[in-house]
Amino acid sequence: MAHKIAIIVGSLREGSINRKVARSICGLRNDNLDCSMIEIGDLPLYNQDLDVDPPEQWTRFRQQVGAADGVLFVSPEYNRGIPGVLKNAIDVGSRPYGQSVFDKKPGAIVTASPGSIGGFGSNHQIRQAAVFLNMPIMQQPEAYLGHVTDDSFDDSGCLTEGPLKQLITNLAHAFHDWVEMIHRSRQLMAEDAAHRAKEHA
Ligand SMILES: Cc1cc2nc3c(=O)[nH]c(=O)nc-3n(C[C@H](O)[C@H](O)[C@H](O)COP(=O)(O)O)c2cc1C
Repeated sequence: MAHKIAIIVGSLREGSINRKVARSICGLRNDNLDCSMIEIGDLPLYNQDLDVDPPEQWTRFRQQVGAADGVLFVSPEYNRGIPGVLKNAIDVGSRPYGQSVFDKKPGAIVTASPGSIGGFGSNHQIRQAAVFLNMPIMQQPEAYLGHVTDDSFDDSGCLTEGPLKQLITNLAHAFHDWVEMIHRSRQLMAEDAAHRAKEHA
C-alpha cells in the first residue's frame, strides 16, 4: 500500500543538495511512497502569542503534515546543528500543546553535506526533537550522507546511479516498511480492543 509522506527539507537554497536528495526519493517509482515536499520557507517565526489566531501559513503547514502517514526530514547541518528554518517548522508543527501534528507519526531522517561526516550533528538534533515529539523514528539504515556535491546529481537534479542512489533506494524501501508496520500494528491493536470490548459486552 502506498503511504502519504510529507518531506520537510531543511534548506531554502535553490540549488540545495538536500532538496535534490529529497527530489530523488520522490522520483523513486517502486517504493510505494507517495511523497509531497512541504514548504517551510514562508512560515512566520514561531511565537506562542500567535497561536490564538495562527498565521495561515502555520495552519497550511499543520494540515499538510497532519494529513501524512509519515514524515521524512532531509536536511543540511548548520554549525553542527539543525538549520533554524527547520527548527522553526518543527516548533510550529508541535503546537498548540497537545495538538502536535508530529505526535505518533512515523519518521525518518536523512542529512547530506559536502563534508565528510554527512550532517551527523544535525541528524541527531532532529532525532532529539523527535523523541520529545513522540515520533517513532526509523533507526536503520542511518543516513549521514557525506561528500555529496552537485556532481552527485544528473542534469534533472536526481541522484546518478551509484552507491549513494542505492543507499537512498534502500532507505526508501525500509521507510515504507517502517510506516506500514506502525500503521498495521496500530490497526491490529484497535481491532483487538474492539473484539475484546464486544466479548465483554
Ligand atoms: C550557516 C552554515 C553553516 C554550515 N555548517 C556546516 C556544518 O556544521 N557541517 C557541515 O557539514 N556543513 C556545514 N555547512 C555547509 C553545508 O553543508 C553546505 O552549504 C550544504 O550544501 C548545505 O546544504 P544544501 O545544499 O542542502 O543547502 C554550513 C553552511 C552554512 C550556510
